[in-house]
Amino acid sequence: KTSLLVDKYGRQLNYLRLSVTDRCNFRCYYCMPEEGIDFAKRKDLMSFDEMYQLSAIFCNLGISKIRITGGEPFVRNGIMPFLNKLSRVDGLKEITVTSNGTLSTKYQAELLQMGIRKINISLDSLSRDRFHQITRRDNFEGVYAGVFKLLEDGFDVKLNCVVAENKNIQDIVPFIELTKNYPLSVRFLEEMPFNGSDGSQVASEWDYKRIYDHISQHYPEINRLISDANSTSVNYKISGYKGSFGIIPSFSRTFCGTCNRIRLSATGELRTCLYGPPVANLRDLLRRGALVNDVEQEILAAVSQRERDGYAAEVASQGAIHTSMSALGG
Ligand code: GTP
Ligand code: 5AD
Ligand code: SF4
Repeated sequence: KTSLLVDKYGRQLNYLRLSVTDRCNFRCYYCMPEEGIDFAKRKDLMSFDEMYQLSAIFCNLGISKIRITGGEPFVRNGIMPFLNKLSRVDGLKEITVTSNGTLSTKYQAELLQMGIRKINISLDSLSRDRFHQITRRDNFEGVYAGVFKLLEDGFDVKLNCVVAENKNIQDIVPFIELTKNYPLSVRFLEEMPFNGSDGSQVASEWDYKRIYDHISQHYPEINRLISDANSTSVNYKISGYKGSFGIIPSFSRTFCGTCNRIRLSATGELRTCLYGPPVANLRDLLRRGALVNDVEQEILAAVSQRERDGYAAEVASQGAIHTSMSALGG
């Protein structure tokens, strides 16, 4: 089915990223400060009913994939009944989840029953100490064991590893070695300026090219894989390894030209680009008593204003963005 959500550059949007909470039980340095952020008040969060209504509208317009993000999605009470209901929305072909892996284990069976079998887990180090330093939580063992439990149950698992100097460079090769015997995909991410504080960081020192060069020093033969046109990661495989690895140029953003995503934050903010400002608040619209048609018109109007390459100029001139990834939804 073709999507009705088409921007002026001809990009069809069929992928919604829905953040169900801005809260998280971790405090990753690249996402938020130790003390956390100014989390949304309960009444400002969309209820699951509101999220359901909006998701159904999006799917009617042509969204066929929804990725559930946070914060940490599993910290929100009521998430499982919501997912269960969502999994039966007309037109929706796939639900995927991005999680920090602390709570996924106990929900595995239920997720599979709903047909949710793809999960992305944030894991930035294979060392307990470095994991602790990065997330500010001493949870490595649980998350690491959880990854293998997901694999045992047949989940399609991707690991997200944000690469940074003095943090986890020594983990890059061991992560690739993990793909030797396990059919998972490890993706190395450029750090983006969404750490919820007023740091002055503009660009990651470890960009796509530097990550690739580092890897190629250890592996003489790297095979490039054919990736989906909308893939954020450029994907590779070492010959004979069961899994694969990828690099996500999230900061340099080489994939804007084929970007098929739209985002809804836990407080109802609609964004047509991760780097862009909110262009509407759909929660407010619902609470003012809007009809389905009004919401559809608002979404279509926002999509028609969508810019081509993600507000690059503004971001570059602003330096660090004071927003936390946890509030944006990633
Ligand atoms: P799938 O393709 O559905 O597996 O999703 P994904 O890999 O994009 O999802 P995930 O939640 O694991 O996000 C991984 C990272 O990709 C994010 O943290 C960002 O760094 C980056 N990313 C995702 N979407 C965008 C986007 O629209 N623009 C930019 N610049 N980066 C993005
Ligand atoms: N830069 C890059 N990636 C980030 N993530 C969170 N904050 C940042 C950031 N500042 C990643 C998490 C998660 C994904 C959705 O976003 O590791 O896996
Ligand atoms: Fe939580 Fe993910 Fe942010 Fe880490 S990056 S603090 S796991 S939302």
